[in-house]
Amino acid sequence: MAQFTLRVRRYDPNSPTGPYWQEQTVELEEHRSVLEGLLQIKALYDGSLAVRCSCRSAICGSCGVRINGEPGLACKTHLNEARAFSEAIGKGGVIEVEPLGNMPVIKDLVVDMDAVHWKKINRVTPWLIGRQPVPQREYIVPREAMLDVTQTMACIQCGACVSDCLAMEADPEFIGPAALAKAYRFVGDPRDDRREERVRELAEDPHGIFECTHCFKCVQACPKEVNPMGQIIRLRRIASADLGIVDQNNGVRHEQAFATLVKEHGLLHEAELLPRSYGGDSWFGKFHPAAGRELLSSLRVIVKAILRGKVNPLRAIIPHRLATADRKAVQRIFDHVDGKKSPHREQRYELNLFVVGEDEPQESQEQTEVTR
Ligand code: FES
Repeated sequence: MAQFTLRVRRYDPNSPTGPYWQEQTVELEEHRSVLEGLLQIKALYDGSLAVRCSCRSAICGSCGVRINGEPGLACKTHLNEARAFSEAIGKGGVIEVEPLGNMPVIKDLVVDMDAVHWKKINRVTPWLIGRQPVPQREYIVPREAMLDVTQTMACIQCGACVSDCLAMEADPEFIGPAALAKAYRFVGDPRDDRREERVRELAEDPHGIFECTHCFKCVQACPKEVNPMGQIIRLRRIASADLGIVDQNNGVRHEQAFATLVKEHGLLHEAELLPRSYGGDSWFGKFHPAAGRELLSSLRVIVKAILRGKVNPLRAIIPHRLATADRKAVQRIFDHVDGKKSPHREQRYELNLFVVGEDEPQESQEQTEVTR
């Protein structure tokens, strides 16, 4: 048996004292989970501790909490790992447990999933609408198509991704990573009859797919490797490349301008991004009245950014550019992904943008060149 100190965020809505931290040492084997530590506190020291759990096997998704500041499942996190992480981040080995973020706390570690998570899931019509005409027997579906949606089907609705979504923090109306991953589950299903309508609604919704800022938080948080951000990117790709939707939120135009600037400069030239997104994807975009209007409405933010040193006015006029050889390497990646090297290529490249830091096995010469 080993001793572990848990520091739990407590909150009782019926008590005049606000939220507070409470420390308790528990005695358990090293491989036991944080959830077991919490349940020991509840059983032996303080029965008033509110914690939600059911399967204790990382299947039901009910024990989502933040452990040492990171969202995850209490039943899937081992006590010894949590303690080692606490030591690594300078918290002295004390395991901090607090409720998930972006959702109101009902009591202690229990958050109101109905108020946020389930409300958003319901926004994306989370069920299959059978393609017409309904076959006499079963729908025959290509195996690859079902494999494509398997990743999203692994979601257990624990809310870990919602907890740390930065876009949702800035805009609570954002549909969010869990619901959008759920949406892809049906958009990618060939049996569904509303593929185009679903994508169109999510693209035109001001709080839809184009509000994600690619911060990777949801990818990191997900205990089931659903990769919600990746599913959002796929929805965007279907909206723009497959269905040709030019949304009212300027999402597609923003994406195109972003890609062109990276292609031209090797890096993003941020000062050009706004005018090109609104005025057209070329150097002349800045002279379009729509770009002028948008620049004017953003003036306050621009001035603030300059005053705080976040924007260098000189850099806005003279953009940084990578050395020619490096720029050409970036352009080669674009050519490869856009299919310029093989115009008849039907396959679409799915770039895995989430790098976890482990070395891949030696790639072939061609792949290495493209990645570089
Ligand atoms: Fe079911 Fe943790 S208790 S996922």
